[in-house]
Amino acid sequence: MTSSTASALTTPELEALAGAVARRRNFAIISHPDAGKTTLTEKLLLYGGAIQQAGAVKAKGEQRKVTSDWMELEKQRGISITSTVLQFDYSGSTINLLDTPGHQDFSEDTYRTLAAADNAVMLEDAAKGLEPQTRKLFEVCRMRRIPIFTFINKMDRPGREPLALLDEIEQELGLTCWPVNWPIGSGDRFRGVIDRRSRQVILFERAERGRQSEERILPASEAAASGLVEPDLLAQALEELELLDGAGADLDLELVHAGELSPVFFGSAMTNFGVRPFLDAFLELAQKPSPRPSSAGAIDPIAPGFSGFVFKLQANMDPRHRDRVAFVRVCSGKFEKDMTVQHARTGKSIRLSRPQKLFGQEREVVEDAYPGDVIGLNNPGMFAIGDTLYLGPKVEYEGIPCFSPEIFAWLRNPNPSAFKSFRKGVNELREEGAVQILYDTDESKRDPILAAVGQLQLEVVQYRLEHEYGVQTRLEPLGFSVARWVVGGWSALERVGRIFNCKTVRDAWNRPVLLFKNDWNLGQLAEDHPDLELSAVAPVVSGVEPIAL
Ligand code: G4P
Repeated sequence: MTSSTASALTTPELEALAGAVARRRNFAIISHPDAGKTTLTEKLLLYGGAIQQAGAVKAKGEQRKVTSDWMELEKQRGISITSTVLQFDYSGSTINLLDTPGHQDFSEDTYRTLAAADNAVMLEDAAKGLEPQTRKLFEVCRMRRIPIFTFINKMDRPGREPLALLDEIEQELGLTCWPVNWPIGSGDRFRGVIDRRSRQVILFERAERGRQSEERILPASEAAASGLVEPDLLAQALEELELLDGAGADLDLELVHAGELSPVFFGSAMTNFGVRPFLDAFLELAQKPSPRPSSAGAIDPIAPGFSGFVFKLQANMDPRHRDRVAFVRVCSGKFEKDMTVQHARTGKSIRLSRPQKLFGQEREVVEDAYPGDVIGLNNPGMFAIGDTLYLGPKVEYEGIPCFSPEIFAWLRNPNPSAFKSFRKGVNELREEGAVQILYDTDESKRDPILAAVGQLQLEVVQYRLEHEYGVQTRLEPLGFSVARWVVGGWSALERVGRIFNCKTVRDAWNRPVLLFKNDWNLGQLAEDHPDLELSAVAPVVSGVEPIAL
């Protein structure tokens, strides 16, 4: 037994734990595809010394792959589907970057990852401003009151007026902005940024694409005299800063941590401009791992007992090993290899003998981990999304809700001899949350109905069934676009009697779900049966095993 029994931490051990928590910062990037998430991630990793080479994240050819884009389909399509965690040390801090899929069809995966994040970085393209996927993900951050840091990217290209970009965020998202730095010019005339607190100018120099350029910092007065910045551009930027100082909010850390005030940074990830100042200010202002609500009240990260929850499952991460990994966000205490913990849902004891840290395709066994970290556990079918693991008094963290699917299709297995593999694949992909599974209420129709947020999600399921489980399948679309869970269950449904223009199915927990062709039909039902309570989000289940195919 390790020293990790709940009450057994000595004072020095508790102090070490407090130190580790104080050093940790964890975040996820939310953005619309193409805003530059991959590029920014790569530049951040360069600062952490986690990669030596620009271009390594988007590995091409023979380059070393430290990428989170490891799935074959992903590579073929050049999109980022799955997400992993990248950890690096910088300036005395340990940073965990929870990578999220770029494609909107996988937003459900991003929702789950945001449940494990303490901070979010909202990345915008300066020319485009707020885009649909960013808005959608922002809503999830808002629900959880996650602190949001805004990085306005691509300042080296012509973009919209900075004040207009901030105004859009304030008006549309109701999020107050606090620019930490302010741009001097834009596009061809982008000359750098002024640090708001020190009034120092960080000069932008066009370096070779992707190269880490030397950073030059000088006081505003010297910048004007140096001839490196046109006086009119500098004067305008300084004037705008005065305006912001006069009219804007103060940098109130409490508001930042409540997700109401967003520190804003301007930069250009591709040219590596503004990334270092962003990282430094982020470490200063971001929320460190903090108490998290549970069935036993808020759990302090500096508690003697380890606890954490599963936010993501992934099968066959490495096709050579055919493994299944459960990603656990550590919430309290010190995690140690070989620890025996309690599994809240089943009440079983589990020895965690091979915890891993994953970095793209590379993995290493971890000896210990602290609140804010993410560990990968081998998952022989025991863990489900939302499960809590703990040591000491029982805790159970809030579950992670499933989001409302919008696309539905029968999944057919044309080859009966492959049924066993078909069943295994469907069950495992459901468990990891790659897709939701519904069933017909008519038990003679045994094929599963796939329910997804985006079309690509269905394609990935088919692709993975073929490549990982060896079964070819056929999809038959069902013409529905809206799903609603019946809050009162089967008895509530029976009470209203016959209903029209919708199909009743059951989910993997045998709960009734109604499928509608469109919102209009849904509205009609609500009018006819105002007492029938419906929910767009599947209620969180705990303590009940799902029905396998
Ligand atoms: P994503 O992960 O958010 O989808 O975006 P990604 O980093 O792949 O960037 C999308 C495109 O935007 C890439 O160009 C990238 O080089 C470019 N980009 C990212 N940051 C900046 C920036 O600060 N300034 C400018 N001008 N461009 C930027 P691409 O042509 O699609 O790909 P590639 O050929 O550069 O790899």
